[in-house]
Amino acid sequence: MSTAQPLWDDVDAYFTSLLCPADETLAAALRDSDAAGLPAINVAPNQGKLLQLLARLQGARRILEIGTLGGYSTIWLGRALPEDGRLITLEYDARHAEVARRNLARAGLERITEVRVGPALESLPKLAEERQEPFDLVFIDADKANNAHYVEWALRLTRPGSLIVLDNVVRGGRVTDAGSEDPSVRGTRAALELIATHPGLSGTAVQTVGTKGHDGFALARVVG
Ligand code: SAH
Ligand code: DHB
Ligand code: MG
Repeated sequence: MSTAQPLWDDVDAYFTSLLCPADETLAAALRDSDAAGLPAINVAPNQGKLLQLLARLQGARRILEIGTLGGYSTIWLGRALPEDGRLITLEYDARHAEVARRNLARAGLERITEVRVGPALESLPKLAEERQEPFDLVFIDADKANNAHYVEWALRLTRPGSLIVLDNVVRGGRVTDAGSEDPSVRGTRAALELIATHPGLSGTAVQTVGTKGHDGFALARVVG
């Protein structure tokens, strides 16, 4: 842990109390996730609010999330949707999905959200076969080893103008290790290289510090 971590925590506490004040539904989602033994690896409140703002800026009507956990980020994103919007979130672990469904129901998002259980690389081809309308925003936050595959699927399931967001692209700086044998690092580097080279994507990555340590997001816009 960085010696600056207490400072990052203080600044996040200030920003969060000012701009993303505690909301009983979100607090309950985290409490129940914790009580069910889920790991506390959800986005921070100010990051959740950022996702919500991005969804609003997109004018998103359809959102795809890969990696649900207890549905904390799902609630932030779901709240950006209009009444007839749709959010599909993919989760490997049935236990996580169960907690998420309860949290989404309490948030009043039961009708517009759908948690699909299974490995995302099995759910994504099924989703493509359904030939639904394209997603306006895709949030990728599952097993980092598959990040490049997730970006490829996101490309197939979106339209020009859609936004793809990847969480955890820095991981304390490990992303810069070109020789890393860590599948998470390799997967994230492959995803970033895809964003850099794919003619249908224009993207960047930004570092963040805060309660989640030193990490960051990649953002990519699908271009025509
Ligand atoms: N987006 C959540 C955090 C997700 S944590 C939030 O910010 O609130 C990552 C989640 O991805 C975990 O619940 C994990 O079970 C799930 N996951 C891991 N591998 C997966 C896979 N192959 N397919 C789908 N989900 C996966
Ligand atoms: C981990 C996963 C995440 O999505 C995250 O935001 C932080 C940590 C993890 O697997 O450790
Ligand atoms: Mg994450």
